[in-house]
Amino acid sequence: MIKKVESDKEYRDVLSIRMTVFVDEQNVPKEEEIDEFEQTATHFIAYDDNGKALATARYRIVDSIVKVERVAVLKEARGLGLGRQLMLFLEKNALNQGYTHFKLGAQTHAIPFYETLGYAAYGNQFLDGGIPHYFMKKQVKS
Ligand code: COA
Repeated sequence: MIKKVESDKEYRDVLSIRMTVFVDEQNVPKEEEIDEFEQTATHFIAYDDNGKALATARYRIVDSIVKVERVAVLKEARGLGLGRQLMLFLEKNALNQGYTHFKLGAQTHAIPFYETLGYAAYGNQFLDGGIPHYFMKKQVKS
């Protein structure tokens, strides 16, 4: 089940996944992982049938553009289509709010993943949390 985060418990599950994936696995500093946009972002979470939290993502509206951030699937659940389902759910939510332009900073290894969802890379490489990224964007026809 994929849903928008609506409770403290769900948000704690979000942070738990991000700690495992970004801080423990990818060595992103904890103080960079939790940022000043936590309260204003819209968070999403995916649970399996046993209620185990497996994946998360968030977005923020910046200048009318949906900025997708913190996309993370637990290692054990990767390659099963969950990341894709999560992105499509998140995009649908934003589209229902009237937003059609999407942007994200993709870790270079994740570029093919976002390309399968229609995102295109642009601009120069940059570092975020010590990890190389490219910006990617997508526009959905309304
Ligand atoms: N390289 C190439 N293609 C990839 C890929 C990769 N590393 N990861 C996924 N894909 C492709 C899949 O083959 C699939 O293509 P298909 O629809 O043609 O079969 C599509 O992308 C969807 O894959 P999916 O199974 O939904 O991806 P996932 O659930 O494993 O999630 C990530 C992908 C990147 C979110 C996940 O690997 C992850 O959380 N990684 C660690 C955290 C991270 O790096 N997040 C991204 C920050 S920018």
